[in-house]
Amino acid sequence: MHALLYHSSYRRCLARIACSRCHGSHLSFKRQFSRSAFLNGHSAHNPEPIAPSLKGKSCIITGASRGIGAEIARRFAKEGVECILVGRNEKSLYGIKDELIVGDEMEHRVVVGDVGDMDFWKGMKKEVYQKKVHILVNAAGVTHYSPLFITSPSLLEEVLRTNLMGTMMACRTVGKNMMASRGGCIINVASLLGMKGGKGSAAYAASKAGVIGLTRALAAELGEKNVRVNVIVPGYVETDMTEGMSSDARSEAINAIPLKRFGQPSEIAHAAVFLAANTYANNCVLNLDGGLSAI
Ligand SMILES: NC(=O)c1ccc[n+]([C@@H]2O[C@H](COP(=O)([O-])OP(=O)(O)OC[C@H]3O[C@@H](n4cnc5c(N)ncnc54)[C@H](OP(=O)(O)O)[C@@H]3O)[C@@H](O)[C@H]2O)c1
Repeated sequence: MHALLYHSSYRRCLARIACSRCHGSHLSFKRQFSRSAFLNGHSAHNPEPIAPSLKGKSCIITGASRGIGAEIARRFAKEGVECILVGRNEKSLYGIKDELIVGDEMEHRVVVGDVGDMDFWKGMKKEVYQKKVHILVNAAGVTHYSPLFITSPSLLEEVLRTNLMGTMMACRTVGKNMMASRGGCIINVASLLGMKGGKGSAAYAASKAGVIGLTRALAAELGEKNVRVNVIVPGYVETDMTEGMSSDARSEAINAIPLKRFGQPSEIAHAAVFLAANTYANNCVLNLDGGLSAI
C-alpha cells in the first residue's frame, strides 16, 4: 500500500517537473514517458523476449567436422537452426551433416576449406551473401604442445594462422553481412590457456589470448550495429584434442580441476545456445572449465 502511494505520488511529482520544464501538458509528458519506456524495452506492457527462439536462424560453424564444433552443430540443428558446416575434411563434414535434425525449410550445407587461408574467405563471401547469417561460431582450432625454442617457425605460424587469423577473417567476412542486416551473434572459442598460459603452449596460448582480445574489441565495435560478440573459454574438453594426452598429464589435469573431470562437448554447445539466444549477451567471456580457472 505504502509502495503504491509512493509510486503514484512520485509519478505525479515527475509529471510536474516535466510540465514546469517544457510548459507542456500532462498528456505530452505521458507520451514522452511511455515512448522512452518502449524504446528501452523495459515497459511491463511491452516485454521483449530475453531469449527468443533460435528456430529459423542460420549459422556458420567452423571446425564442425568433429569435437566441439560438431556438437554445437548438432545442438543448434535441434533448436531449429540451419547450419553451414566448415572444415577441411569433406567426408567427416558430410557425416556430421547427415546426423543433423532437419526441420521445415531447413537445408544444412557443407563448405570445405582451410580457415587460415585468406582466399578461402574471399570465396566464402559468395556463400555468406546468398542469405542472411544470424550466428557465426568459430570453433576451428589446432594445438601443438612444444616449448617455443624447439618449435619450428612454420608450426608457430600454422597455429596463429588457423586459430587467430582464421577467427579474425571469419569475423571480418561474416560480420560485414551481419552489420549490413543490423543483427547477428558471433561466438568465438578460445581456451583457458589464453588466459592463464601453460608450459609448452606458447603459440596456442598466444593465439587464444588474441581471440579473447579480438572478441572484446569487436564487442565494442559492432555492438551499436546490434551484432553481439562473445567468447567461450573452455578448460579441458573430451575431444580428439585431449585424446592424445599422456595418462600422467591427464590425471594431473583432472586432479587440478575442482569438478574432477573434463567437460563434454555438449556442455560447451549448451553455452553456445545461451550466447546465441540471450539478446543482452555481448562481450561475455564465458569460462567453462570445471573451476580450473579458480586455481
Ligand atoms: N578440447 C579441448 O580441451 C579444448 C579446450 C580449450 C579450447 N578448445 C578449442 O575448441 C575448439 C574446438 O576444439 P576441439 O576440441 O573440438 O578439437 P578437435 O576435435 O581437434 O576439432 C578441431 C576442429 O577444427 C577443425 N580445423 C582445424 N584446423 C582447421 C583449418 N585450418 N581449417 C578449417 N578447420 C580446421 C577440424 O576440422 P578438419 O580437421 O576437418 O579441418 C576440427 O573440426 C578449438 O578452437 C580448440 O582450440 C578445445
